[in-house]
Amino acid sequence: IMQINEILLQYGQKHILEHMTGLKDSDIDILASQISNIDWEEMSNLINKYVKGKEHFQAPSNISPPKYFTYQPENDKGKKYYQKAIEEGKLLISQGKVAILTVAGGQGSRLGFEGPKGKYPITPIKNKTLFQYNAEKIRKLNQKYSVELQWFIMTSPSNDAETQAYFKENKYFNLSPKSVHFFTQGTMPAIGFDGKLLLGAPNSLALSPNGHGGTLLALKKSGILNLMKENGVEHISYFQIDNPLVSIACPLFIGLHKLENSEMSSRALIKTGPFEKLGNFCIVDGKLKIIEYSDMPNDLAEKKDEQGRLLFRAGSPAIHVFKVDFIQRLTKTGHLELPWHKAVKKVPFIDSEGELVKPSEPNAIKLETFIFDALPYAENPLILEAVREEEFSPVKNQDGVDSAVSCRRMMIEKDAKKLELAGISVPKKPDGSIDCVIEFSPLAILDND
Ligand code: UTP
Repeated sequence: IMQINEILLQYGQKHILEHMTGLKDSDIDILASQISNIDWEEMSNLINKYVKGKEHFQAPSNISPPKYFTYQPENDKGKKYYQKAIEEGKLLISQGKVAILTVAGGQGSRLGFEGPKGKYPITPIKNKTLFQYNAEKIRKLNQKYSVELQWFIMTSPSNDAETQAYFKENKYFNLSPKSVHFFTQGTMPAIGFDGKLLLGAPNSLALSPNGHGGTLLALKKSGILNLMKENGVEHISYFQIDNPLVSIACPLFIGLHKLENSEMSSRALIKTGPFEKLGNFCIVDGKLKIIEYSDMPNDLAEKKDEQGRLLFRAGSPAIHVFKVDFIQRLTKTGHLELPWHKAVKKVPFIDSEGELVKPSEPNAIKLETFIFDALPYAENPLILEAVREEEFSPVKNQDGVDSAVSCRRMMIEKDAKKLELAGISVPKKPDGSIDCVIEFSPLAILDND
């Protein structure tokens, strides 16, 4: 305890010490263990840099747009190469060399849904949840490729138990329980604007998940990377739980990744406009990077090429394929330094009177790392264009842009296309939009490939 006292005094966190004096021993132990798990040297640097400092993102000067594989091959040679990639991708999937990784550790604060986001009911008729919908896609893939794909789900300490209980209650949606693996990401304490860490409960700091960048180290620390190696998994197909449209094991994408010997591959969408809220793929000093929409200088975002298209038109829908060896190399030392991204948020906290306060205005800084910041470390990274209507409709909000409502509409439109491809006409309004509700089970029909 003496050591904890010293740490708290040395790093300007006296308020926690004062709070602890009123606690019973078991609560002191919990808090003390959280405090001793923090790297205080690093925390102090982060507070100086992101909370007290006025650090601004500096737009790099040596920046250009990246090349990408277009959705449709550009010529006959390309056509042959894509065909070869599709065959290669199918082979890898059927050999069990590809694992599925879903990140589901986020707090879903914009959606305002209590509990893990994966439990959110999304399908337009049956109200299947995001987890169930994905589980059914995996079952269908297992049938199609005569394989048992391994599914890895990242949770956070606050939603892990509920997530695992949900799968158990639902008998893993008829997947084999041993093919579904959960692992938990790390956390970061929320920091008040005065540099003091907030208490989220009488016996706990206000901890939140450390961002999807935490996936990489969590894979290593949980032993999952070793498990993958032992089971012959070579590549990981990565996506986010809130994007039910995604093709979770796309043979073309996986095949190109393999043929190009890429360590980390990404899908890209053509941005709808210069300021669409997607990360921008850029080449900076010869390395592929993603620059967040909020960091992209306006003049660069609006710049056009000679054909009148946006110069930086490749936006990221957060769909990747990783080589297992790449993640192993990155995390070999047990440390991984990805840049931190700062968000100003409303974080409930225990005040000096011991009362829980739910602020109506932002009161704290949360720091997260992002998975795409691993890109510059990857050898031969490639980008494959995706068609938005087929791959991306994130459920971030209840209504409006990127919402449950827009996602359901896009799910219906995607399924309507399948009907039309099969020669069945679909009722439409005069403006061409679909005038009915459709839902296909992934068990009946999967993606067009
Ligand atoms: P977002 O950053 O959009 O966060 O996550 P969110 O939790 O869904 O929603 P908000 O921002 O609180 O409203 C994109 C994906 O990354 C996962 C989320 O679960 C989601 O699938 N994620 C995010 C994690 O797994 N861990 C994190 O720490 C953050």
